[in-house]
Amino acid sequence: METKEQNLIKEIKQLKEKRNAVILVHNYQRPEIYEIADFIGDSLELSRKAAETDKDIIVFCGVRFMAETAKILNPGKTVILAAEDAGCPMAEMINAKQLKELKKKHPKAAVVCYVNTNAETKAECDICCTSANVVDIVNSLKEGEAIMAPDKNLAAYTQTKTKKSLIPWNGYCPIHQEIKEKSAVLAKKQNPGAIFIAHPECPQEVLRHADYIFSTGKMLDFAKENTNKTIILATETDMINRLEKENPKNKYLSIGGLCPDMKKTTLEKVKEALEKNQYEIKVPEDTRKKAESSLRKMIAIGGKHGK
Ligand code: 13P
Ligand code: SF4
Repeated sequence: METKEQNLIKEIKQLKEKRNAVILVHNYQRPEIYEIADFIGDSLELSRKAAETDKDIIVFCGVRFMAETAKILNPGKTVILAAEDAGCPMAEMINAKQLKELKKKHPKAAVVCYVNTNAETKAECDICCTSANVVDIVNSLKEGEAIMAPDKNLAAYTQTKTKKSLIPWNGYCPIHQEIKEKSAVLAKKQNPGAIFIAHPECPQEVLRHADYIFSTGKMLDFAKENTNKTIILATETDMINRLEKENPKNKYLSIGGLCPDMKKTTLEKVKEALEKNQYEIKVPEDTRKKAESSLRKMIAIGGKHGK
């Protein structure tokens, strides 16, 4: 007999066909959400998929800035965010007014916005970046200095990889900020020989201990290419489910927490989203056009985990 979950998955797949929809899922989503995905990936991969799709509806299982990015890049499509209140606290740490004020203080600096920003903030920047391409993006700039907002940790990491002078905003991801150096040291001590991989949203004192610093997409590539290893991860804990799904031959340990916003998407909400066309993302056209230019420049540059 089929379980309730299996039934829901079947119903969502049928609805998806009927509505000519594509379901895009971030790596940090619940493992059952992976089952209904057309594509699972990191922020850069998902923005590319959103830009390319020819389906009528894009259903986003992630957080608001990701769905907004999809709408900005593919405005002719109906974009829906399955969990209406799934936001990103880091994206809320800067707004367009604050960025404008910072720009006034540094008129010669280029402005790089992490994709984890809202559409109005993106509209005020020169180019966007994700954790997969940030170094390539910054090094592509003609200016010698650049504002980097909102993530101070991503800026500090990038500063170690570039000669450009970076001006960080004081934002952070609460989940990665909570990962402590002592947890990294202890996990390494308890697992001699393990490989330690950290996300660049982690503070410098954690990154210092990492063998590799990767976006979630690059973590996946590494797990696929390496087998029979113990891998300690400093990122959102549910990333483990994704890695286990792709390569169960490694042992994965996490020193990170869960992102409550990423967990707001459930199978029930996705089904309702497809049935009721909710919750539709709208971006005013003038804001969208400006934000699109910043995103298109990013996509054109590519990045290590890009095309
Ligand atoms: P990536 O998946 O792009 O590495 O980013 C993680 C993140 O911040 C998602 O919220
Ligand atoms: Fe935002 Fe951090 Fe959650 Fe990603 S994990 S959505 S950056 S709060």
